[in-house]
Amino acid sequence: MNVIDALKWRYATKEFDPSKKVSNKTLETILEAFNLTATSYGLQPIKLLVIEDKTKQKELVAFSMNQVQVAQASHVLVFCIDTLIDKKYIESYFNLVKKIRNTPDAILDPFKHFLIEDFEKKEKQEILNWAVKQAYLAMGNLLTVCALEGVDACPMEGFTNKDYDKILNLSSKNLSSVLVMPIGYRAENDYMSKLKKVRKELKDSVIKL
Ligand SMILES: Cc1cc2nc3c(=O)[nH]c(=O)nc-3n(C[C@H](O)[C@H](O)[C@H](O)COP(=O)(O)O)c2cc1C
Repeated sequence: MNVIDALKWRYATKEFDPSKKVSNKTLETILEAFNLTATSYGLQPIKLLVIEDKTKQKELVAFSMNQVQVAQASHVLVFCIDTLIDKKYIESYFNLVKKIRNTPDAILDPFKHFLIEDFEKKEKQEILNWAVKQAYLAMGNLLTVCALEGVDACPMEGFTNKDYDKILNLSSKNLSSVLVMPIGYRAENDYMSKLKKVRKELKDSVIKL
């Protein structure tokens, strides 16, 4: 499938076939694509939680506006943000750059100090909002990657973040859930899969100057 055909093929899947599993190889591609997502400053203030535990998935339905996709899916991906983004966090990014690229401190230090100061000036909520944007970007990326891999997915904001955080014990890891994405393969009888895609005409979405 070319990318446009894949994007036309995909849809927000309402019913998955619970008997079909995403293979480890395909899952690894999806996880690697998550890690390759571009993020602001390259800081990657996001983590992906992968759930493959059916009991847990069933438990989460009640906190997902009763959306059964969460129980039926092969895997449930939970996009989380790091909630502790401080000086140490930023320094660890620059240590990674140094390790991978062998960049001298003299080159890295000015930008490192700028970022540390810039983040120190921000309110905690502003930093969290910034991190949330990176989680949306990662989900957008994975929606396309899943489509190209022939994997169905349902992007979901319809869940209660506090309950997910509690059930998945996220705060102990300085994480908080932002988005949920069950992945797997569409059920034969998902009526949504047969409906035409609803999109504005291209001329109403794009302005060419
Ligand atoms: C950020 C976001 C949150 C969404 N939340 C839900 C959701 O909780 N449940 C659901 O069934 N669909 C959800 N959707 C799916 C949208 O309704 C769907 O993508 C949109 O109607 C376009 O249809 P399509 O994706 O099937 O082409 C969400 C989509 C996005 C991008």
